[in-house]
Amino acid sequence: MIYNKIGFIGAGSVVQTMVKGLVENDVVKSHKIWVTNRKNRAHLLDLWKKYNVNCTVDKKKVLDNTDTIILGVKPQDMQEVLKEIKPIISEKQLLITVAAGITTDAIASVLKKNIAIIRVMPNTSCAVGASATAIAKGKLANDRHLATASKLFESLGEVAVVEEKDMDFITGLSGSGPAYFYYMVEQMQKAAASHGLSKETARKLIVQTLYGAAVMLKETSEEPAVLREKVTSPDGTTYAALKIFERMGFENTITKAISGATVRCTELGQEFLDVYQLSEISDNRKSS
Ligand SMILES: NC(=O)c1ccc[n+]([C@@H]2O[C@H](COP(=O)([O-])OP(=O)(O)OC[C@H]3O[C@@H](n4cnc5c(N)ncnc54)[C@H](OP(=O)(O)O)[C@@H]3O)[C@@H](O)[C@H]2O)c1
Repeated sequence: MIYNKIGFIGAGSVVQTMVKGLVENDVVKSHKIWVTNRKNRAHLLDLWKKYNVNCTVDKKKVLDNTDTIILGVKPQDMQEVLKEIKPIISEKQLLITVAAGITTDAIASVLKKNIAIIRVMPNTSCAVGASATAIAKGKLANDRHLATASKLFESLGEVAVVEEKDMDFITGLSGSGPAYFYYMVEQMQKAAASHGLSKETARKLIVQTLYGAAVMLKETSEEPAVLREKVTSPDGTTYAALKIFERMGFENTITKAISGATVRCTELGQEFLDVYQLSEISDNRKSS
């Protein structure tokens, strides 16, 4: 690998799953991983205890010791983080952002540096090496940078290289996607509970059903509609259930939910730009 010392800024859900995946799959040795966050020392301690990675409260230490920096903070905190790393990040480093909505151009304009940036949208299934991750190049990133990011995330699941213009939609599709399936499982568990089925039995049957369907989709490469039709005999039980899904507007609900997530993602990017522009205006006033 070209870049092999990885620094994480942020130690929340996504970073925890990534560190777990990278260390447990032996993609990056734990001593080559540095992690920092804002104030939650328990998260750092936990990562250190579990994976023996370097944890520090000092961002400079992370930047001094790594060549690829992964920004794993919420979009709302990105402004502050970029201002903190601006004086200490080098143009030789590769910056990877997993933040929803924030474009590589927006990050570059805050840093005011010629730095290669890659935008990535993984999901929390990184923890089990099964993330669906989309990767897009920023303007200054080249194929070598893309290859580095791809290699890192391939160790955490499947990677698709996409254009950055599609990233907000993909965030609503596969970034948030695991939650849609968890929600479905929750509702199936509720139905099973109200029938009186034990929690353990219901969970076993539902999870295996979801897993089996995913394996069928992946391994047979059949279209989902074909697989669905194979389960649905005319006037049978599945048919009865699907009729209700249809009547209750399932199709429309899914499309609208993904579109709601996409819109929110774009809003997060716009909020970031608004805050940045306001802070630029106030800095210019102070200096004039
Ligand atoms: N959750 C998902 O499924 C998912 C999927 C794909 C992408 N993402 C993206 O991944 C990013 C992180 O999401 P998450 O769910 O992991 O968030 P999270 O659990 O809230 O973690 C955010 C992390 O950022 C740290 N942080 C905030 N401000 C900081 C600062 N100034 N300096 C250093 N660290 C700082 C926080 O530290 P403290 O805890 O110390 O405050 C925390 O460790 C988001 O941008 C999100 O859009 C999330």
